[in-house]
Amino acid sequence: MTRRFPEHGKPAVSAALFRAARLQAALVLACGLAATTAQAEENPGKPPAAIEGSTAAAPGEDDLKNPEWIQAGKTRFVQTCAYCHGTRGEAGKTRSFETRETWDPQVIHDTIANGRVNGPNVMPSWSGSIPDDMIWKIVAYIKSLSAGYKAGK
Ligand code: HEC
Repeated sequence: MTRRFPEHGKPAVSAALFRAARLQAALVLACGLAATTAQAEENPGKPPAAIEGSTAAAPGEDDLKNPEWIQAGKTRFVQTCAYCHGTRGEAGKTRSFETRETWDPQVIHDTIANGRVNGPNVMPSWSGSIPDDMIWKIVAYIKSLSAGYKAGK
């Protein structure tokens, strides 16, 4: 003989299931957060972009003066950045890129990757849309614009 649970028992059962499911969701969330935190702690000095897998180490001067890098960076700069900066960085809201002889490549890279907000002047962050190696090629192009830092020297 099959014994049926009375109808009124059902809501109690599903409420319990619902609570269990909620608890599980909370646990999954908590584990996920713990994992993310642990990952961040393994890379204390690195910016979040590094965790997302775009970790090319800063290239050396040879790479930054490589004409192929400069050309590739120029193509991308003209497509994506000239709208606000002019094709040679002469038309933006900051000092022309052509006058920046001692500009640290890492600083240029980080500004492009992370963006910067300065009151109404907003430099978007590009780490989500431009791969890190291309950001470095753009840096090579920007460096090539100042007279004291010619390619091939
Ligand atoms: C929507 C307009 C806009 C676009 C597109 C844009 N920028 Fe910018 N960028 C700005 C503004 C505005 C600033 C100045 C922010 C400030 O005042 O701190 C800036 C600042 C910078 C700086 C720092 C300049 C300095 O003097 O420190 C660099 C480098 C730079 N941008 C590179 C790029 C590159 C490379 C791209 C393309 C991938 C790009 N920008 C696209 C608006 C833009």
